[in-house]
Amino acid sequence: MKLLKLFLVVFLQIYSTSATPSVLIVGAGPAGIAAATRLLSNGHTNVRLLEAENRVGGRVDSVFFGEAYVDLGAESCHGTKDNAVYELVKDFDVLRHTETPTKIYHSSRRTIDEEFSQELVEIIASIYSPDGHRDEVEGKSVGQYCMDKFNSTIFERYQERPEKLEVAKSSTELFHHIVLGFEGAFSWFEPSAKNDYTECDGDLELNWNGFGYKTVLEALTRKFPNPSDQLPFDQTVLLNKEVVKVLWNESSSQNSVMVICSDHSSFTADHLIWTPSIGVLKERHQKIFVPRLPKEKREAIKEIGFGAVMKVAMYFKRRWWTPETNFTGFHFIWSDHDANLLRKEFPEGPLKEGRSWLTELFSVVPAPNNPHVLVAWLTGDMIPEIESMANDTMIQGLEFALKKFLGHEYNITKPDAIIRTYWHTNAHFRGSYSFQTVQARKNKITAEVELAVPLLNKDGRPIVQFAGEASHPYFYSTVHGAIETGYREADRLINLYK
Ligand SMILES: Cc1cc2nc3c(=O)[nH]c(=O)nc-3n(C[C@H](O)[C@H](O)[C@H](O)COP(=O)(O)OP(=O)(O)OC[C@H]3O[C@@H](n4cnc5c(N)ncnc54)[C@H](O)[C@@H]3O)c2cc1C
Ligand SMILES: *[C@@H]1O[C@H](CO)[C@@H](O)[C@H](O)[C@H]1NC(C)=O
Ligand SMILES: *[C@@H]1O[C@H](CO)[C@@H](O)[C@H](O)[C@H]1NC(C)=O
Ligand SMILES: *[C@@H]1O[C@H](CO)[C@@H](O)[C@H](O)[C@H]1NC(C)=O
Ligand SMILES: *[C@@H]1O[C@H](CO)[C@@H](O)[C@H](O)[C@H]1NC(C)=O
Ligand SMILES: *[C@@H]1O[C@H](CO)[C@@H](O)[C@H](O)[C@H]1NC(C)=O
Repeated sequence: MKLLKLFLVVFLQIYSTSATPSVLIVGAGPAGIAAATRLLSNGHTNVRLLEAENRVGGRVDSVFFGEAYVDLGAESCHGTKDNAVYELVKDFDVLRHTETPTKIYHSSRRTIDEEFSQELVEIIASIYSPDGHRDEVEGKSVGQYCMDKFNSTIFERYQERPEKLEVAKSSTELFHHIVLGFEGAFSWFEPSAKNDYTECDGDLELNWNGFGYKTVLEALTRKFPNPSDQLPFDQTVLLNKEVVKVLWNESSSQNSVMVICSDHSSFTADHLIWTPSIGVLKERHQKIFVPRLPKEKREAIKEIGFGAVMKVAMYFKRRWWTPETNFTGFHFIWSDHDANLLRKEFPEGPLKEGRSWLTELFSVVPAPNNPHVLVAWLTGDMIPEIESMANDTMIQGLEFALKKFLGHEYNITKPDAIIRTYWHTNAHFRGSYSFQTVQARKNKITAEVELAVPLLNKDGRPIVQFAGEASHPYFYSTVHGAIETGYREADRLINLYK
């Protein structure tokens, strides 16, 4: 009995030293939080998260504005089946269906009746939908595919009605901007038409009813729904810790990785899980990793696509729109003539090849459960310049555009306040979400799979692991994908020490 006890004590000591490796996680976005909470709830307590920003959440950024939380980053849970986000909150009745806008407005103020609006939106959706026949088009970009198909579809349908054909033609740019909203690219000629992205079944547009996407992060740390069940997560996070060096040692199996932060603090650990965006890797992997990353990894980083989208949330003291009638928002199309005129009518703000920044504005939608807030969406290759605009110019421009499109129907006012995104400008993101480029499709092993391969030491044990949205083989670009990659890398360690 005594012997057994002694044996147990010794065994437990040995076991516990080997069972609690030290783990550093870089980045406290969905992937980092998922990895940390998975480790914590499996007895791995020696975990530290280093986050460069002064807040956790990463590209999930819910900010109280107006009368509810507005999401500057992720805002929709895409699907319900096999969706990690949905799984985490399905029992708590927070998600609501989001209607997508079906009302299209034309810069000339010519009336586009609701039926025709709806028809155009449906044509766009059916061509872009992965259930369309994009599999036939290996080697083509999304843009090439969609333009060809859109052109032939509208030609066939409206050739007898030149009025409609003309409006349909000028909605090609609206189509382009909508696609960029999904792909996160600067141009629709960058993403591949055929790709590995997989949609979950079920409602693809679920919103957080004004409670913000942050709810899912609180579900991960178990602060939600019951704060007394919280994991000891807050204690593991260090904010304002921007990692500038990751020194990894292939010949050591303990304390094999050391990181240095921009404030000169340093940390060592047995394992490191890296989660910052592919944008951060593209810009800085050569400076950060010592020794440098293997060639396959460097190529994957180069080939994964990354651009940026922009949202501006606008608060109006006096609500000029009419929410009673199932208000879903507005889509905008510019005629070439009006787009050209813009340079004179509203000359402030960035221009590119004679195009005003306002032509990147394509949609204005209501914020969920937030009666005085509308969210403007902008996409396209001028986003970097638009992000650096002054607030005043942006407010004036938005007011101008709203009046231009809607002034004949509504008594538009200037937004009383705005909050806006800087995903491209912010060095801790450098963009919004990843996509598969035409170039990357040429490889046998996809760049996402290559990115996920850990760096091993000479004994074959993982030292530096990679998680994050862009390392998911088919849910890349999403929060549910990011969370799964965090689980994946935590499980790799949990299994190693089992
Ligand atoms: C505008 C926008 C809308 C979106 N809409 C949706 C949506 O509707 N649905 C959906 O599912 N997804 C959406 N996404 C994508 C989703 O937000 C991301 O896929 C997800 O947040 C990625 O999580 P992650 O943990 O991989 O990376 P991140 O969220 O980027 O987390 C990485 C963390 O690393 C930190 N970091 C960076 N560099 C360093 C460093 N050197 N040292 C320390 N820390 C560092 C960052 O600050 C960040 O907190 C959207 C994204 C944006 C920007
Ligand atoms: C659009 O399709 C019509 C009919 O197929 C064709 O005549 C026209 O050249 C096409 N335009 C473009 C820009 O592809
Ligand atoms: C790597 O680890 C080995 C074995 O512990 C050690 O001898 C060597 O000095 C380390 N190298 C670096 C660069 O830290
Ligand atoms: C609002 O939309 C829902 C769902 O599409 C529909 O069932 C309902 O009839 C609509 N209500 C009005 C007033 O149009
Ligand atoms: C816009 O206003 C916000 C809030 O006052 C401020 O933080 C931000 O820096 C401003 N942006 C620019 C580009 O001036
Ligand atoms: C439009 O709004 C302005 C500012 O609130 C107000 O002064 C004006 O009377 C309104 N006009 C109409 C027609 O409602």
